[in-house]
Amino acid sequence: MAQEDIFKKLVAHCKEYGFVFQSSEIYDGLGAVYDYGQNGVELKNNIKKYWWDSMVLLHENVVGIDSAIFMHPTIWKASGHVDAFNDPLIDNKDSKKRYRADVLIEEQLAKYEEKMNKEVEKARKRFGDAFDEAQFRATNQRVLANQEKWDQLHTRFSNALNDSNLDELKQIIIDEEIACPISGSRNWTDVRQFNLMFSTDMGSTADGAQKIYLRPETAQGIFVNYLNVQKTGRMKIPFGIAQIGKAFRNEIVARQFIFRMREFEQMELQFFVKPGTELDWFEKWKETRIKWHRALGFGDDNYRFHEHEKLAHYANAAVDVEFKFPFGFKEVEGIHSRTDFDLSQHQQYSGKKIQYYDPELGESYVPFVVETSIGVDRMFLQVISASYCEEEVGTASGEKDTRVVLKLPPVLAPVKMAVMPLVKKDGLPEKAREIIDELKFDFNCQYDEKDSIGKRYRRQDAIGTPFCVTVDHQSLEDQTVTIRYRDTMEQDRVPIADLKGIIGSQVSYKQLFAKLN
Ligand code: GAP
Repeated sequence: MAQEDIFKKLVAHCKEYGFVFQSSEIYDGLGAVYDYGQNGVELKNNIKKYWWDSMVLLHENVVGIDSAIFMHPTIWKASGHVDAFNDPLIDNKDSKKRYRADVLIEEQLAKYEEKMNKEVEKARKRFGDAFDEAQFRATNQRVLANQEKWDQLHTRFSNALNDSNLDELKQIIIDEEIACPISGSRNWTDVRQFNLMFSTDMGSTADGAQKIYLRPETAQGIFVNYLNVQKTGRMKIPFGIAQIGKAFRNEIVARQFIFRMREFEQMELQFFVKPGTELDWFEKWKETRIKWHRALGFGDDNYRFHEHEKLAHYANAAVDVEFKFPFGFKEVEGIHSRTDFDLSQHQQYSGKKIQYYDPELGESYVPFVVETSIGVDRMFLQVISASYCEEEVGTASGEKDTRVVLKLPPVLAPVKMAVMPLVKKDGLPEKAREIIDELKFDFNCQYDEKDSIGKRYRRQDAIGTPFCVTVDHQSLEDQTVTIRYRDTMEQDRVPIADLKGIIGSQVSYKQLFAKLN
């Protein structure tokens, strides 16, 4: 099945099974804003817990905060967001559609990459085990021609971004003959800068109202609380402050479902270090974060690091963690060495001394910062994309059927155990409820008595429930039940008293954390 079709199915699945809804749907929706449903919110909370505990519980020098979304407007002047938090936009005059100029060029680069990969895959099939990919890439004329085009475009693009040369961005779009996907025409406007921050007015009277911004990142809430936390927590450098919270960006091109939203959530860590040690810490956090992703078991090859073409105004090193979504490798997380830019700017704009007295050095300095920043929603999309499976299975009557199953890591699954009475009589529902009452404080349980057992299994597969427990007449006699495992569909008969141990060990965060050391 084409990756595009898989993605469409995934979006439909998220709606059908209560994971993600279009916001304000009964009013025809609001662009790039989404709501999480009854299963979505559980999955999202589990992702947040995995991140929060891995930062705050596993690192004794990391503490958390929860800062306000509204902040003093000067913060955004100091951080550079008022002047520089822009995207280069371009309009197609025929379709009237607006695009990010840099994204159009990145897509062109991806097309060259795709052409090269196709040649490689064709040759791999032709030569079988004897295939030497490196040699093929170094000698095949079609691959070399596309590589040359890629290299030239990449250099031109990087230079244009680094020089903020908007005319050159437009010229690249023209030279590469990039057309609008809607109108098919190359009738483009000039490229202009567009600030991504939402603003609103705070205060009751028109005269007294103050223009404030909805934060476009949670990071600044951490920087402006650096002194509070360092002093009240008696923190010693190196130490980190973690935060999870909403962020808002007026994205020009908001598409690919929850990949690029106008209201989203971030999980950010700012790690404060001694100047001069920041690049070592940058490498350490790169390693820590990639381990965190890989521990979920979605396949190491589905992740890669992407070095930035252009460093943000505050960074001296930056890398993205990219995941292979159905629409290609895309950023899930950014890791930046932010220097002392933010704290120095806040020191200057607030007039307050923001420094650390280092008892070992006997001197004060403005700490340097290494940041890890991951979008909760993108992480959610990563988890759903990696877990969605369609499998051909046999039915009782010997026919073929397709089951849709979310092979979520059990620890992240919204429901851990579904308990099902075989029939709705003879005391089986009461027994099933008894089991739930016993275990509901240990993990999320769901009672399900409607439809045939087969249909109930399918419903639980579709939301990723790792364990289904069936209560039958034998259960009343010998206190045993059948437990069905989602991924293998195998069943075992086990004592009710063992359920807590069997399920508890599989859904505990401990076994994930053990992989992070
Ligand atoms: N404090 C640094 C910062 O905000 P960023 O690379 O702009 O850096 C960090 O954002 C992460 O936030 C991204 O890797 C992505 O996961 C998430 N993110 C950014 N913009 C987003 C959007 N419009 N919708 C959903 N997630 C977004």
